[in-house]
Amino acid sequence: MQKIHLVSGGCGFVGRNMVRRLLKTTQDKVFMIDDLSIGRHPSQWLEDYEAEMILDLEVIGKEKRLYFWKGDFRNLLFYMRVNQRYIQEKYSIDFDRFSDVFHFAAIVGGRMKIEGDPMIVALDLSIDAEFFYWITQHKPERVLYPSSSAAYPVSLQSTDYAIALSEGDIDFNKNLGTPDMTYGWSKLTGEFLAQIAAKYYGIKVACIRPFSGYGEDQELAYPVPAIAARAAGKEDPFEVWGSGKQGRDFVHIDDILDFIFLLLDNVSDGSAYNIGSGKLTSFLELIELFAEIAGYKPKIKPLLDKPVGVHSRYANMDLVTKVFGWEPKISLREGMERVYNVQLNHLKKLGR
Ligand SMILES: NC(=O)c1ccc[n+]([C@@H]2O[C@H](COP(=O)([O-])OP(=O)(O)OC[C@H]3O[C@@H](n4cnc5c(N)ncnc54)[C@H](O)[C@@H]3O)[C@@H](O)[C@H]2O)c1
Repeated sequence: MQKIHLVSGGCGFVGRNMVRRLLKTTQDKVFMIDDLSIGRHPSQWLEDYEAEMILDLEVIGKEKRLYFWKGDFRNLLFYMRVNQRYIQEKYSIDFDRFSDVFHFAAIVGGRMKIEGDPMIVALDLSIDAEFFYWITQHKPERVLYPSSSAAYPVSLQSTDYAIALSEGDIDFNKNLGTPDMTYGWSKLTGEFLAQIAAKYYGIKVACIRPFSGYGEDQELAYPVPAIAARAAGKEDPFEVWGSGKQGRDFVHIDDILDFIFLLLDNVSDGSAYNIGSGKLTSFLELIELFAEIAGYKPKIKPLLDKPVGVHSRYANMDLVTKVFGWEPKISLREGMERVYNVQLNHLKKLGR
């Protein structure tokens, strides 16, 4: 029987890249869920979009391999809690269980949301609690839980003391520290639930801790596309949040997806691995790079009232290199050029 995978948050940044990858590299079916609170409707990001309906479910594409259920994932999880075969029966789709389950539905947002509305982000705890309960009942073949580098203790990322963050800096049997706001707490809790699901229920789960993922079709609420767009418009003076000396570890979405598949093939006990480049890049350096790509030298204007988060957050990739021999393929310059070109074309279309 044809496999069917589930992608929650499938219309968000990571989700839609994953859905496109699954459709491109497999012949399998994909069941995608999103409430479109942030995500974009598939007609906006799928080539040759065409769809028909089974009740309220969109069946997308000529091959009818993609299903789109629009709504709050918690509602669907509740329906499946009441009736394990809810999807199969309601929509007459014939399958036994989902093969790979990618759980990207979450309230994320940029720094503005993480610090500006922390309690809405805390709702991730309710999405994840329902999710983990469901997988222990449904027993999919494999599960991917995206944690985040925000789960690491903020004390290791300060101005005075910042180290490359190693997987062992989170150890449920020792010291956990304080993660980054409610977002980090929900991710840390999610990792804990992943380990419980593996140990007590025999579910095959792998967790990732992506650092700052970016890509061509990321929302402008995130720094990389926002800075690229402003460089394409030759902003001068160039505004930066805070001093700009704070740094992050940027990793391209294509590399993130490559690593996810490698991890699913090799990890099943709920343990978590970093996805980063291992390099710290400050926002000033990022602006310099984009300005160089755009071919000008702007003055810098710090905006000291904007939220900046921890000072320095970057990955120690030693464990990943040692265990999997993996490293990202896309260099910072190549990745940023790709994002820049998209933003430049966008500006040209707008006639600016
Ligand atoms: N992008 C990164 O660099 C990065 C880094 C670390 C972790 N992550 C994690 O990866 C996952 C995906 O992140 P993203 O960047 O794609 O975020 P995103 O905001 O682009 O995507 C999340 C999607 O979930 C949807 N959603 C939110 N609540 C929902 C609900 N209750 N029911 C159904 N859909 C819902 C949103 O509409 C959105 O489309 C998140 O768990 C995030 O924490 C991402």
